[in-house]
Amino acid sequence: MSDATTGSKDHVEVYSGTARSFHWLMAVLVLLQLPLGLYMAYRGGDLGIFDRFTNNMYTTHKMLGVILLVLILLRFLYRLVNGAPEELATLEPWQKTVSMLNHWGIYALLIGTPILGYLGASYYGALNIWGFFNLPALVGVDKKVAEVVLAYHGWAATVLLALIVLHIAAAIYHHTVRKDLVLARMMPGLLKKRDKA
Ligand code: HEM
Ligand code: HEM
Repeated sequence: MSDATTGSKDHVEVYSGTARSFHWLMAVLVLLQLPLGLYMAYRGGDLGIFDRFTNNMYTTHKMLGVILLVLILLRFLYRLVNGAPEELATLEPWQKTVSMLNHWGIYALLIGTPILGYLGASYYGALNIWGFFNLPALVGVDKKVAEVVLAYHGWAATVLLALIVLHIAAAIYHHTVRKDLVLARMMPGLLKKRDKA
């Protein structure tokens, strides 16, 4: 999963183009999906406003969630087959452990969260997409079970959000405080700027 060299004066292995495309595409989509889920559940659930706007948000969330599930399965397979670049030698041992736990935790939740959402929506019998078609049902309708499964979906999404906040904070810390090459592994354009400096 790595491009072995970058032409930089600091030798560093960066993530491959495919790995970077998966990463940034999914980062954008997940950072839209999380607030969308939180806001729609607040508006539909807490405020009890279930108008066309709320309904469209739910439909968009489900459709985007299923697209994300397909993307993450492809990405995970790619990761298992191709691996990742060697860890940077400048990282402390505890940082290697924490980042490994963070990355695998994010992968696990990126797979588990949409599966729980899809299962919950199936149990709820709410699989219609903008009145055009129905997503295939995974199970028969049972609204009581749906509530439990969707609560698990919400918790899984909350833990995912916490891991992502930690992940982004770590990337900013490495780039601005430690000034190492962690961010450049996922954004090799930064290496060119460094070389010019
Ligand atoms: C990576 C993908 C996904 C993320 C990050 C995500 C995130 C979220 C979040 C943050 C909430 C709000 C939870 C709350 O405040 O209780 C939510 C609710 C919900 N999600 Fe997802 N979701 C994803 C995929 C899906 C999928 C694939 C479906 C169904 C096909 C789905 C269906 C729902 C439903 C029906 C709710 C409303 C639950 C309620 O009102 O109690 N989600 N999601
Ligand atoms: C703007 C926000 C983000 C920044 C700056 C960022 C930065 C990075 C960097 C620098 C790495 C490589 C770390 C290393 O070399 O050890 C990485 C890896 C990773 N990021 Fe992000 N990231 C962001 C958002 C996200 C989001 C939202 C997700 C979840 C969808 C995510 C999931 C991952 C995963 C799973 C890896 C591990 C890749 C692998 O080894 O297979 N990132 N990120």
